[in-house]
Amino acid sequence: MSDVPSSNQKSADRPLPPGPDGLPIVGSMFDLMRRPIDFVDDVSEYGDVVTYRVAGQRFTALLHPDYIEQVLVSDNDRFRRWAGEEWGDTFAGYATEGLLLTEGEQWRRQRLLIQNAFTPDRIESYTEAVVAETEHTIEEWEDEEPIELKNAMSNLTLRILARSLFNLDIDGRGEIVRRTADALNARANARNLSAFLPSWIPTPTNRRLHRTMADMESLLDELIEDRRTDAATRDDLLSLLLTAETDDGSTLSDREVRDQLITFLFAGHETTALALTYSLHALGHHPKKRQKLQEEVQSVMGSDPPTASELADLSYTEQVVTETLRLYPPAYALFREATEVTGIDGYRIPDGSKITLPQIHVHQDDRFYDDPEAFRPKRWTDEFEASLPEYAYFPFGGGPRHCIGMRFATMELKHVLPMIISAVSIDPVGSPDLAFDTGITLQPAEPIRATVRRRSSQR
Ligand code: HEM
Repeated sequence: MSDVPSSNQKSADRPLPPGPDGLPIVGSMFDLMRRPIDFVDDVSEYGDVVTYRVAGQRFTALLHPDYIEQVLVSDNDRFRRWAGEEWGDTFAGYATEGLLLTEGEQWRRQRLLIQNAFTPDRIESYTEAVVAETEHTIEEWEDEEPIELKNAMSNLTLRILARSLFNLDIDGRGEIVRRTADALNARANARNLSAFLPSWIPTPTNRRLHRTMADMESLLDELIEDRRTDAATRDDLLSLLLTAETDDGSTLSDREVRDQLITFLFAGHETTALALTYSLHALGHHPKKRQKLQEEVQSVMGSDPPTASELADLSYTEQVVTETLRLYPPAYALFREATEVTGIDGYRIPDGSKITLPQIHVHQDDRFYDDPEAFRPKRWTDEFEASLPEYAYFPFGGGPRHCIGMRFATMELKHVLPMIISAVSIDPVGSPDLAFDTGITLQPAEPIRATVRRRSSQR
């Protein structure tokens, strides 16, 4: 663990971390735009704490699990979440009152309230929606149907999320939510200049986002208005948000409710859709591993959905999910801002520095993983996990701001993946190698095409 200074003064005396100078004014912006993921590999030659400037902001990337733990856990009160505010905000001013972007007392109050929708009992109750929507999706697939994996999985996870958390049938309206997710990812895409510009500048990406958000907000206002009439008699997350009272008897403002909906509709379906997309892609290109998974599923649950007790026996399924989130982490990097001068590994991290915790880089660091670029679910043995530094693997973040949907997501992935694998074969059409765009989440740069084949037709 790093030598944390006892006072800010001590930190102030330390040197800045090393790193590339970059160009005047823009710093390393063009290098980052050219190679958003490989940029961190390039600068890792400076060490585990590297500083660089991008469009007027000083960044420090932390490449060692100990320093990641320091920021997320032990020193978390010296850092706040950063979402590109100086560049006009990654979310372009939307969802700022939602759980992902609030800070301090407002965040604490929201987290306490919303946690009630993620207790183990609640998660258990959501399995019904997960199973029903997955069965529905599988039934709708024709034999030999060509699909685009990310679209197909986004459709499914959005339906699951809307039904389980909000008791909503999203049919016919899901397209607006998916368009919004695409527009948010496009604005945040580090290959796109819009990521570094205020959202009021009328770039095509910004205009598209504002147009889409206008549709999204009217949809949400409609949903909220409908639900207000019977919120008191229901107990899903939307009703909870509408009826919950704080200590002083006040309820969440309309803006807060709407921003939670944007937050959860986005964070709750995009991430799991990506995890399913990448796991099906990887399995499609590793037929033996897919076969092994199918055999496990067949022997544990036959052709039925897994029961709670069977889930524990799906050990290879669990390894596949864990390995997918290692190799293709949907939240590929986390960002923080230092709220006071801090010392990390003997270096000074000035107040206001932006901190990058590059999950995808750490998850593929050969100091922790053998053959890090290979998809090898079997690496996840108990012994291996015990030997791994804690923050060498952090797909759901860590500390007080860790993912509130982690258990929900894990339950969902461990149901959907075996159910799909047991019913159909998803056969890839393209190359095993993927290129990525770094939006808010890790996006496939090109559509991932595959063909659905029903298992019965293969016999
Ligand atoms: C595989 C799926 C998922 C992954 C990989 C993932 C990843 C993450 C990560 C890394 C964070 C922390 C971000 C940070 O510290 O900056 C986070 C936060 C969050 N996630 Fe997830 N997530 C997933 C699924 C979900 C689901 C299903 C939901 C909702 C149903 C959700 C809702 C949220 C929210 C609201 C936060 C902010 C929490 C806070 O700041 O208090 N996520 N997620």
